[in-house]
Amino acid sequence: MTAAGSLFCVARVDGELVVMDNVCPHRGGPLGQGIVEQGRIVCPWHAWAFDAKTGCASHNPKACVRRYATRIDGDTVMVELE
Ligand code: FES
Repeated sequence: MTAAGSLFCVARVDGELVVMDNVCPHRGGPLGQGIVEQGRIVCPWHAWAFDAKTGCASHNPKACVRRYATRIDGDTVMVELE
């Protein structure tokens, strides 16, 4: 998803809509092209896995991607960027 000139990773994880930065902190992989597995979003390049609730990598809690508050308004996903 693109908003405000930036790409975001959008996923449905355990029934919850999750929006986070699309760029993996490892080497810049596209998280939005990864897979969802056991509550985590797995980067397609080297399989770092980010907890959908915290945005932090399973193996390194200091490696995190920013998550954004969201709500659905009809067919539109609203993302709080601030
Ligand atoms: S770029 Fe994402 S795991 Fe390496």
